[in-house]
Amino acid sequence: MTTGAGKNILLGVTGSIAAYKAASVLRGLTARGHNVRVVMSKGAQEFVTATTFRALSGRPVAADLFIEEAQASLVHVELAEWADALAVVPATANIIGKFASGIADEVVSCTWMACDCPKLIAPAMNDRMWASPAVQENCEKLKRLEKLYFVGPVEGRLASEKVGVGALAPVEEIVEKIHSVAQQGEQLTMCDDRRKTEVRVEVKRKAGCEDLPLPRYMSSGASGMDLYAAVEGDMALAPGEVKLIPTGIHVAVPSGFEAQIRPRSGLALKSGVTVLNAPGTVDSDYRAEVGVILANFGPEPLMVKRRMRVAQMVIARTERAELVEVEELTETERQLGGFGSTGLH
Ligand SMILES: Cc1cc2nc3c(=O)[nH]c(=O)nc-3n(C[C@H](O)[C@H](O)[C@H](O)COP(=O)(O)O)c2cc1C
Repeated sequence: MTTGAGKNILLGVTGSIAAYKAASVLRGLTARGHNVRVVMSKGAQEFVTATTFRALSGRPVAADLFIEEAQASLVHVELAEWADALAVVPATANIIGKFASGIADEVVSCTWMACDCPKLIAPAMNDRMWASPAVQENCEKLKRLEKLYFVGPVEGRLASEKVGVGALAPVEEIVEKIHSVAQQGEQLTMCDDRRKTEVRVEVKRKAGCEDLPLPRYMSSGASGMDLYAAVEGDMALAPGEVKLIPTGIHVAVPSGFEAQIRPRSGLALKSGVTVLNAPGTVDSDYRAEVGVILANFGPEPLMVKRRMRVAQMVIARTERAELVEVEELTETERQLGGFGSTGLH
C-alpha cells in the first residue's frame, strides 16, 4: 500500500480480443504517476505476451501460479498486499463467473480473491455473451458481494464485426476511473455503479417468448433497458410506414412510476427509425403486452427481426396533480405571451 499520489495498481488481464488495449491502459496509468504490476491469465497470453507488459511496466509479470519463483513468494498474496487498487481489463465472461463463484484456479482469480482493496472490472465480450442471464447474474452477484466498480461494456464494433453492447469501454475512460478509484478508494467504490434499485417492476413473459432476453440495464450507468422485438418472422417496415412491434412482455409498474418507451439512438441514426409516440407511457395499471410503435422516416425499409432491440424502456417517477379551477391565474411578467422563452414566438 502507498500513501502518496502515485498508487500501486494491479492490472489483471484476461483472454479477450481486447486484451491488447490493456497495454494502453497500463501506459495511461504510468503516465499519471502510478506504479503498475500486471497479472495475466493463460487466456490473455493467447492474445498478448507477458513481455509486452513487462517492458511497459518495468516489472515482472505474474503469468502463472505454479512457477518456481511464484511459489516461493506466493505471488498472488504478495501482489494483493502491495495493491491499492485492482483493475481487471478486459474482464472475460469466464473470469467474471469465477469471481462471482469463488473459483480460484489460476493466478488472476487467486489474486482477486486475495485482494481486499477497491476493485474495478472492465468487461469485454460478444454482445450475446454479455446479455446472457448467467453473465448478468454474475455481475449483479459481484456488486452485492464486493466493493467494486464496473466500467462498460459499451456499444461498439465487436470481434464478430457486428455492433453491439459488449465492447471494452474507451481506454481513457478506464484509466480515469482506475485513477479515481485508486485515489479515493472506498468512497468512490460505493457510488454510482452500486446505485440501489429503488423500484421493483414485475415482468411476465408472454407464452412463446421464453427465448427472448428480459430487458435489463446493460451497463452500470444505463438509465434505459432495451426492449426486444417478439415478431414471429421478419417484419418489414417500409419507408413512411408505422407498425406496432410486440415485445413479448407484460409489466406491472408500481403506482407513482411509469415505463417510458423511447427510441434507440442507433436505430434512429442508422435507419431513421423512431418510436412514433415517444416517449410512450406504460401506466401503472396497464397489463397488456408492451408494444412499440415504430415509424420509419429513413429512405430504406427496415427488416425487424425477432430479438432485435427496437426501443428502450426507462422507469421514471410521475406525479399526479390535482387540477383546481380558478377565476384568475397568478400574474407573471410574460403574461399571455406566446410560445418560446421570450413569449414572442
Ligand atoms: C478469438 C477469440 C476472442 C475471444 N474474445 C473474448 C472476449 O472478448 N470476451 C470473453 O469473455 N471471451 C472471449 N473469448 C473466450 C475466452 O478467451 C475464453 O473463455 C477463455 O477461457 C478465457 O479465459 P480467461 O478468463 O482465463 O482469460 C475469446 C476467444 C477467442 C478464441
